[in-house]
This record gives sequence, C-alpha cells and structure tokens, in this order.
Amino acid sequence: MSATALTAQIVEPTAPPAPPAFPAQGEPNFVTRDAIATYRSLPEYHQPAFMDAFVEAGDLPPVEERLPDEPMVYEVSNMTDGIGVYGDVMRHVIGGRPEGWNYWAGQTQGWGGIDIAMSECLTRTGPLFQIEPDDLEPLPNLARGWEWSEDGMSLTVHLIEGAKWSDGDPFDAEDVMFYWDHTIMDPNVTPLNAASPETFGEGTTLSRVDDYTVRFDFTTERPERVLYSMAYGDFCPGPSHILAPMHPANNPDMSYDDYRNAFPPDYMNFPVMGAWSPVEYRPDDVIVLRRNPYYWKVDSDGNQLPYLNELQYRLSTWADRDVQAVAGTGDFSNLEQAENFVESLRRAAEDDAPARLEFGPRIIGYTLYPNLSGNGWGNPDTRGQAVRELNRNLDFRQGVTQVIDRQRLGDSLVKGPFTAQYPGGLYAGTSYYDEGSTVFYPYSLESARAHFEAAGLEDTDGNGFYNWPEGSPAGTGDVQITLLTNTDYQTDRNLAEGVIAMMEEAGLKLSLNALTANDRDAAVSAGRYDWRVERNASDLITVVQNTAQLAPTGPRTSASHYANDAGELDLLPFEEEMVEAVEGFIATNDPEARSELMKTYQQLYTDNLYGIGLTQYPGALVINKRFRNVAPGVPIYAYNWAEDSVIRERLFVPEEDQIGAELYEGALPGEPGGEGPVTAGD
Ligand code: GLA
Repeated sequence: MSATALTAQIVEPTAPPAPPAFPAQGEPNFVTRDAIATYRSLPEYHQPAFMDAFVEAGDLPPVEERLPDEPMVYEVSNMTDGIGVYGDVMRHVIGGRPEGWNYWAGQTQGWGGIDIAMSECLTRTGPLFQIEPDDLEPLPNLARGWEWSEDGMSLTVHLIEGAKWSDGDPFDAEDVMFYWDHTIMDPNVTPLNAASPETFGEGTTLSRVDDYTVRFDFTTERPERVLYSMAYGDFCPGPSHILAPMHPANNPDMSYDDYRNAFPPDYMNFPVMGAWSPVEYRPDDVIVLRRNPYYWKVDSDGNQLPYLNELQYRLSTWADRDVQAVAGTGDFSNLEQAENFVESLRRAAEDDAPARLEFGPRIIGYTLYPNLSGNGWGNPDTRGQAVRELNRNLDFRQGVTQVIDRQRLGDSLVKGPFTAQYPGGLYAGTSYYDEGSTVFYPYSLESARAHFEAAGLEDTDGNGFYNWPEGSPAGTGDVQITLLTNTDYQTDRNLAEGVIAMMEEAGLKLSLNALTANDRDAAVSAGRYDWRVERNASDLITVVQNTAQLAPTGPRTSASHYANDAGELDLLPFEEEMVEAVEGFIATNDPEARSELMKTYQQLYTDNLYGIGLTQYPGALVINKRFRNVAPGVPIYAYNWAEDSVIRERLFVPEEDQIGAELYEGALPGEPGGEGPVTAGD
C-alpha cells in the first residue's frame, strides 16, 4: 500500500467523549485546617478503663505521662457525632499479604491501610478532601508547625515534643534524620511508596537543628509543594532505635537484603507512632493490631485516642472485602472493583443493610503502560529489547491506543453510567485537568493498522499476526508481547484480558503474565515487563502529591522508565519535555504558571501516549453503620486512601452497638519482637 493510502486510513485524534453523568453522593462540610485539630495541653486526660490495671501494676506510666505536654487535640466541633466512647474493633478484609514490617526498605504490610494505621507522617493529607480551598495546605501531624526563611530557601520544621513510640522510646529528630539519611539518601534502599531524593526537589538537604527541630534547605525558592512530600507515602519515619542497629550503615554483618527482611510478619509488637501496633499474625488468616498505649492524640475532652481498641485484618481477597462489608461480616471496603458495583448497590439499598455505601467522584483509573526504557533496564533479552524499541515508536503507540474500544472495555466491567472512556493522564473532573489539552485517539482498527504499518510491522507469513520488522534482532517470527497484571484484583485481570483480546483482533499477539501484587510490584521495579496494566496512584488526581513521579524526573521515579544500572535514562524528546513541565511545576508556586504547566503536561502525555488510558470510574466507601464520626463525603481515594481520610483514630461505636469481637480484649502490645500482646501484670 502506498504511504498516501495509509495516511488516508488514519483517524485523527479528537476531544475526549463526554463522560456519562454520575453525581457524587456525599458533599463534604468544608472547614479550615485548625477546625479539625490543634496542639495544646488539657486539664486532664483519660484512658480506657481496662488500661488502669496496667498503670496499677506498674507496666505503664499514667496516661498524662505517656502523652506529650501538648498532644494533638481533635476538636469536638469537627466530629460529626461528637466525643466517642472506648471499645470495639474494626474488621478489615484484604487481598494483600504482608512481606514484613520494614516499610522503609520497601516491604508491603499487605495494604488495605495496615501501614497507614501503623505509620504517622510529618504532615497529613488524607483529610484534605474537606478543607476549604483557600486554606488548602497539608495538615500538621508529627510536624506540628513550620516556617519559611525570609529568602524562602529553607523550611524549619518543628516536631511534636515529648511524643513516644508505642514501646515508650522517645520520638525525636533522630528518627527523622535516620529516615532522611538512611532511607531517602541511601540509593540501596527504596521505601514502599518509592520516595527518593527527587521527591523533595533536586539538591534539597535536611539537617538536625535540635531534638525537636529539623531544617530543609532548598535550591529553589519556597517550594511549598514539599509540605505534600512530608505526608503519607514520602515522609513517615520509622523507629530508629529498632531500625538503625540492623541497617548496613551501622552493622557490617547485615546486607541490604538482610536489612529488608529483618522484621518478618511474625515479628510482633513492632513499635509505631500510629494508633495500633501488630500483636498477632497467622499466615493467610489474620493480622491483629491493638491500641498504642503511647498514642499522642486526644479528643478535646482529654480522652486518649484511638477509641477503637483493635483492628483486625482478615487475609482473604479484595473481592471478599466488598462482599463482607456489604454483608456486615466485615466493616470497611473501598468499593473499587467495578464488577462488584451492581450487587453491592442492591444489598446496600435494602432496609436492613448493615453498611452504608456512598459513591464519590471518578478517581479510579486504569492505564496500559509500555516500558519506555531502551537502555537495558531489567536486562531484557533480544525479544524484550525489540518490544521496547516498538514501545518507543509513536506510530506503534498510536496503533495500540486505537485498537482499544474503551466503551466495550468499560461495559465489560459494569454496565450503566459508571465507567468513562479515559484517554490517560490527569483525570477529568480533577483540579488540574483541562479538556482542551487532552488528546483522545478514537477506536479504529483501520487506523490502528495504518499506524502499525507505519511503525514497520507487517504480517509477512500471512497467519493473521504481525511479524517483527525487517532486520529485527528478534528474528522474523510473530511479534510477541507480554502483558503484566496483578492477580490480586479481578478488575486488573479482566482489563488485561480485554486488552489482549482486542490486540489479537488487530493482529498483535500478547501473552499474560499474571502475578500476585507483591511479585508484580517486584517485577515492575526490576524492569521485568513489556507492558503493564495498572491502577493509577494519586499523583494523577492531585498533582501536588508525588509530583516527581508524574514523569521520569530521576533515575527511579517513573515505573515506565527507570535508568539502567549505570544510572542512564534514555528519555524520548517528549519525555524530556514532560520532565521539564513537572520540574517547572515543582519549582513554582504561581497558580497560573502551575495550571499552564499541567496543560502542557497533559497535552504531551495524551498526544504522545506516555501511558494508554483504559477506563475511569467512581468508587464507593462502604462502612458498617455502627461506626460514628464518619464525616460526609469521604472519597475512597483523593490525597490518600479512605483508611487515612476517614481518620480512624476518632471513629467510635456507641456502647449498645459494640459487637464484642475483640480477639485480645484487655491486652496491649508487648515488647518489640516479643511473643504478642500482654495483659496487665504479665
Ligand atoms: C489497596 C486497596 C485500596 C486501599 C489501599 C490502602 O491498594 O486496593 O482500596 O485499601 O490498599 O493501602
């Protein structure tokens, strides 16, 4: 076919099709940040009655001595149902499995908010969904305040004073500096949510001023976004008194692998700053967490938080989380697998439904990411390298995106007004999204074929599948691409299977590499994949969160394009422009400049198909009706997952509704690494 005939078949990009109307069900009550919490001392403090015996036996100091002089105080005026009562348990169900407690060396605790319950971070962003736009800035947390130097080149951060880890060890600048020096700045260690030096801006340093003060120094003026990098995912320090002795920097007998594995899931009572610490682990069965006796937050009547004595995590499947939450045998779910929407909605609408279910905005989105590293990352074989060369070809990516019938793909998950066709990049409906900067390639097999041919592909043996281009080191056989997906979620799997079926219709042969989440994550960060289907993270929702991950701004910031072992990135010209836009965004506070930079970013992303959007849909928070203080309009995902946004430490269950399901009633976490929970006088 001639080149002109080919171009004649190309269907040009358009504006994205309008998503079907789907109004969010709950509206937040917008407030200022200090309406939620302040730091101050109160005339008296209280603890659950069962803890008195621990104090009487001399196992614990009295509650006022366990708290900082000025604890964080949740104001009753911001609590939907007021001051709570102690007791009861929140029964979580999850599909993840814990690798161990070393979050700081990259281990997952099984997700579903276990790590969110255990860790506290310098600032907090989950609850920002309810903050008035004029006051939108991260909430103080372990950092109780901060101030900028006059020239804007440094930020002095004041830590909460006198707070303790759950084993009674003081929390101070040593913990914060250990995190910075031996997690962020150590290239051999990557924490679970992948924070790296780029997260804090190039050339940023952190130093200790005194026990409760640290200071950031920057190379650009007043990078306010760093306050978001002090939140969940990026700056949740671990217990240095436990971690430091095992870190290779201090312990010549330990390798980095040894360090990563030094705190396996059966290591109990891991010291936390969060409200609950793990006291029991039974593989494929349950993780139990009990209240942290040193937790440093109280309500405005002086009751030490949390109200809930226990969290349980049943180790099951994510689909079971939905089923159990709507049935009332579990207490909580982020309803995020569209396949479960119809049945869950039906059950939740019944009069005797044990759980309430509330849909929010369309912030669950899936993207097909081609591996764009041509630099040898992950040591691909000849075939793998040949796929990467194709991935780096714009015509090839244009072909791939036009093979995808997004309407059909969305409907295959759930019929109705839920799913929208997603071009990729920033989500429609979020603050930095600009429709005019979003390029949508409509479904057209003919156009896709024209693009594939322009990329040098031809079905030379006539078997219905494209062969490698002439002269390819991969040989003359059929192009063969592996699609990596996550078996822990049926949605991931269904979308991957849908993509494979559509690619076959167009003559591209794919095979599925379906791995459990932990193995999948390891394959991605090692660069062992051709294409992957992935549920996106919050950077594409908020932009201000994990901004550095929006493009390959550093050697290990974007899972689509890591550097090779020599640290070399081989960015495509449009990726370089994306990096420029992202770095420009990071370096400025000017709202207009920021919105322009994100328009540029979106244009580059969707036009060049950095990732190939699949579908975008809303999720619903499902929570048992016995819980109080659930604020209206909590989204399942925005700045963070709902497990953070819902502020679990101030949820409570009225006495008459408590279900008597605590597994370790009357017990508290014991010694770090000890057997499990202890009772008074043990
Ligand atoms: C998993 C779940 C999410 C959420 C997060 C919290 O990713 O799929 O719904 O619970 O864990 O860590």
